Amino acid sequence: EEEEIERIYNSYGNIIATLPRNRGWATQHLCQYQGFWFQPMVGLEGIMWMQQHFISRPTDVYLISSPKSGTTWLKALLFSIMNRTRFDFSTHPLLTTSVHECVPFMDFDLFKTTPIADPEVLPSPRIFATHIPFTLLPDSIQKSSCPIVYICRNPKDVLVSLCQFVMKVKPKDLPPLSLEDAFEMFCEGISPCGSYWDHVLGYWKASLEFPSKILFLKYEDMKEEPLLNIKRVAEFVGRPFSLEEEENGTVQEILKLCSFEKMKNLEVNKNGFYRVRNTKNDVFFREGKVRELENHPNFNAGRGSVLTTKGTVVMGACIM
Ligand code: A3P
Repeated sequence: EEEEIERIYNSYGNIIATLPRNRGWATQHLCQYQGFWFQPMVGLEGIMWMQQHFISRPTDVYLISSPKSGTTWLKALLFSIMNRTRFDFSTHPLLTTSVHECVPFMDFDLFKTTPIADPEVLPSPRIFATHIPFTLLPDSIQKSSCPIVYICRNPKDVLVSLCQFVMKVKPKDLPPLSLEDAFEMFCEGISPCGSYWDHVLGYWKASLEFPSKILFLKYEDMKEEPLLNIKRVAEFVGRPFSLEEEENGTVQEILKLCSFEKMKNLEVNKNGFYRVRNTKNDVFFREGKVRELENHPNFNAGRGSVLTTKGTVVMGACIM
């Protein structure tokens, strides 16, 4: 069977070699596949695999986002919501295990021979995260009635977050990507799993068309009104909080456990290692703030305003 898997992945490699390329962010190139840009080796092969082989279960829950939009936070929230009767808050797995191990990325982690490579062996209900654009979702997910929770974040903060992340994870032998170039590419739609604009709009439109299947969340709203939004999430995935849980502090416990300050300062997230991506877990926790770019010294008004204009188009469509 290993040989068969090897053969399949080699065939993906052959396809990837023929795809249009552009300058990479954290990898040498980005490749254009089905209208979006991906990092070859870190995700694209996984997406191809999923499109052909992934089988959804009626009990699955999917968390989808464009990179750097709050995936880590929502992973923690969903994991805690779904498993709240299984674990005690004082010995909760999230206190000692990376959230990325608790909730795998379908396209990065369920891939080749990583420890959690086979989604079939995971117990139900499975929670999967992915950065796949809507139009590329495997049929099995498109046709299912499983809930999809999408999180979107304002593009300025996504860009800053992405640049900072790339600086940390980029192999040293690759040339650095200046903030200016990153800005231009991001606006043009050439960013990992981008275009960001099409990613967000794809799920926004789908959420309007299929409101009971896709919940469209915004990072900024979650920050502003965490209580209200966590309740929306719980209800949407079919696990609404009971009156008793609201009164006995369960909701607050989950919010506290998943808060930026709590998670960032856990030993596992400060010094632990994310094997699949070969990075430290701390790269996923930086500032956790809203609208950082407005105070960023490297963005002057002129350039910022281009982003604002573009941002308004998408954000306008998303009523932000
Ligand atoms: P910043 O770089 O702006 O700080 P993703 O998880 O999609 O990769 O997004 C990463 C962003 O979410 C980073 O933003 C990170 O700091 C922030 N983040 C991580 N954990 C968080 C949490 N528990 N609450 C709020 N924001 C969080």
